[in-house]
Amino acid sequence: MESVRFGIIGVGNIGTVHARYLLAGTVKDARLTAVCDIDDKKHDAIRQIVGEQVDIFSSAYDMLRSGLIDAVIVATPHYDHPSLSILAMQNGIHTLCEKPAGVYTAQVKEMNACARECDVVFGIMYNQRPNPLYQKVKDLIDSGELGDIRRSNWIITNWYRSQSYYNSGGWRATWKGEGGGVLLNQDPHQLDLWQWLVGMPVRLRAFCQFGKHRQIEVEDEVTAYAEYANGATGVFITTVAETPGTNRLEIAGTRGKIVVEEGQLRFWRLRESEDAFNARWQNGFGEPECWEVTLPVAAECSEHHVITANFCAAILHGSPLIAPGLEGIRGLTLSNAMHLSTWTDGWVDLPFDEQQFKQLLDERIAASVEKHVESRTLDASGTW
Ligand SMILES: NC(=O)c1ccc[n+]([C@@H]2O[C@H](COP(=O)([O-])OP(=O)(O)OC[C@H]3O[C@@H](n4cnc5c(N)ncnc54)[C@H](O)[C@@H]3O)[C@@H](O)[C@H]2O)c1
Repeated sequence: MESVRFGIIGVGNIGTVHARYLLAGTVKDARLTAVCDIDDKKHDAIRQIVGEQVDIFSSAYDMLRSGLIDAVIVATPHYDHPSLSILAMQNGIHTLCEKPAGVYTAQVKEMNACARECDVVFGIMYNQRPNPLYQKVKDLIDSGELGDIRRSNWIITNWYRSQSYYNSGGWRATWKGEGGGVLLNQDPHQLDLWQWLVGMPVRLRAFCQFGKHRQIEVEDEVTAYAEYANGATGVFITTVAETPGTNRLEIAGTRGKIVVEEGQLRFWRLRESEDAFNARWQNGFGEPECWEVTLPVAAECSEHHVITANFCAAILHGSPLIAPGLEGIRGLTLSNAMHLSTWTDGWVDLPFDEQQFKQLLDERIAASVEKHVESRTLDASGTW
């Protein structure tokens, strides 16, 4: 295969973004040959975007079996990510699934089991992973520069979303249509990066506020506290209703501290580890010598086409994936655990009881109120 023929399932906000960069030739060796959207009313508008050379389908099954595509991007609402990815993989189609991997982990386990059986490339659209800032943080942690991690804090409150955003689609911010709020829609990137950088906690306690600032069923504000096997702790704070918002990640280790904020990475490096200093220091007050280190970090680049290009290279040349699909379950595990902790008003040990989670989610789905709004495709360019 010399180039990869792509299809897209779901041509809404983000599906349109994927279509545009593929049509523009931004991803070398990739071509958009087909798209599919279940909503026939959108097909005329989609034709305006994709032109006459791209086939438009109403059924994902028909597109996957058309012989027109080698790979697919699944860009529908979250509940369908696992079932459509499974359908694609079972038809021998390389699959790049939008985040989140699904709505509940039991569903995503089925998708991962299928991916292990099928001989296709399976990636997830975690387009923040290639961001050089987080790549460098990962490097500092994995190379031991930061020492043992003791604490991480992420305040991610610059996901401002007005009520009009929630009114732009019937599925949005409902238990039945989306299965969660800011944790499922905006934060999957940060939840994935958090676990990618500092690992998975052993237990957590979370406080989700449902419909606190917006007329929605699901959470629009969350504060969570996590504990890790090595005794480290972490705090994750998020909301869609704060402006100006903050995006600040702080990770403290025995060898120093990292802060990522405002597009910059700052690293304070201790001359000796805090443990060693503490063991030898006899003078009461005093701290280890500390240097602020300036690190060369390339310009921010967290655009979706970077992940698609890497996915393409994995298909054509066997290159390692930046965001393997099998890893999508980890961030979702964190958000499921945060919901479960709130619903049960208590600590959640990981792995948690998936049956209990599903039962509590189902109760909310049963009580979910159908939203009757006209679905609108918004301009999602420039979003993460
Ligand atoms: N990676 C990112 O930065 C990013 C950004 C935005 C959205 N997303 C994710 O992309 C997904 C879609 O979000 P959106 O904002 O584009 O939603 P959207 O509602 O704008 O678009 C979804 C489209 O999928 C279509 N669709 C639904 N079910 C389908 C099916 N079974 N077969 C074919 N088409 C179907 C709908 O008709 C709609 O056109 C969500 O899971 C969201 O979390 C990711």
